[in-house]
Amino acid sequence: MNIHSIDPILIPVPESFESSRLQIRSVVWGDGAAVHEAVQESAAELRHWMPWARQVPSVEESEVSIRRSRLQFLERSDIRLLLFHKKTGQLIGSSGLHRIDWRVRKFEIGYWVRTSYAGQGYITEAVNAITEFAIQELQANRLEIRCDSRNTRSARVAERTGFTLEGILRNDKTDVQGNLRDTMVYSKVRGAEY
Ligand SMILES: CC(C)(COP(=O)(O)OP(=O)(O)OC[C@H]1O[C@@H](n2cnc3c(N)ncnc32)[C@H](O)[C@@H]1OP(=O)(O)O)[C@@H](O)C(=O)NCCC(=O)NCCS
Repeated sequence: MNIHSIDPILIPVPESFESSRLQIRSVVWGDGAAVHEAVQESAAELRHWMPWARQVPSVEESEVSIRRSRLQFLERSDIRLLLFHKKTGQLIGSSGLHRIDWRVRKFEIGYWVRTSYAGQGYITEAVNAITEFAIQELQANRLEIRCDSRNTRSARVAERTGFTLEGILRNDKTDVQGNLRDTMVYSKVRGAEY
C-alpha cells in the first residue's frame, strides 16, 4: 500500500524505545499521578513557557490529559512520549511528536524537563533518540522544533541536536502573558541533515 494514502490508524508505531539512560514510551492510563508530581516540582520553570503549567493541573486533570493522549496515540493523531530514567524509574520529563502530517511525514518535537534532572543532557539525549525513532520507524521527512525566540535553553537543545534554524516567525503567537512573541523554527529534513 502507498504510505501516502494509508489511513494513519493503520500505521504501526512502536510503544517504547530506549536511549542510553532513558526509557521513552507512549503514555498509558495511570501515568497521570507521576506526570502531576513532576509538573508540580517543575512549575516555577515551566510556567514561563508552557501556558498549561500556569496553574498546575490536579492529579485528576493530569490523568484526563494522559487518557486523551492515549486515545490520540491509538488513532495516530499525536504521539506524546514520557521519559523515564532507566536506573531510578523516575519520570524525568516529557516529549513527543506533535502536529503530525502523515502525508508529508512531518512531526514537531516538544519537550520539558523535570527540574531536578535539568542541566544533565537528558533532553538532548531524548531528542536525539526521538529523532532517530521518527526517521527509522516513522519514515519522517521533516522534523521541527519550534520555540519562543527568547527561550534560549530550548533553542540550545535544538542546536545541540543538529537542527537547522530556518527562520524566525515574527508576531507568530502570544506568550503565557498574552503578549505577542516571535517563534524560532528549527528543522531536520531528509536529504539535508540526514
Ligand atoms: C528547554 C529545557 C527542556 C532544556 O532543559 P536542559 O536541562 O537545559 O536540556 P538538557 O537536558 O539537554 O541539558 C543540557 C544542559 O546540560 C548540560 N549537560 C550535562 N551533561 C550533558 C550531556 N551528557 N549531554 C548534553 N548536555 C549535557 C549541557 O551543557 C546543557 O547545559 P547548558 O545549556 O547550561 O550548556 C528546559 O529548560 C525546560 O523544561 N524548560 C521549560 C519548558 C520549555 O521551555 N520547553 C520547550 C518549549 S519550546
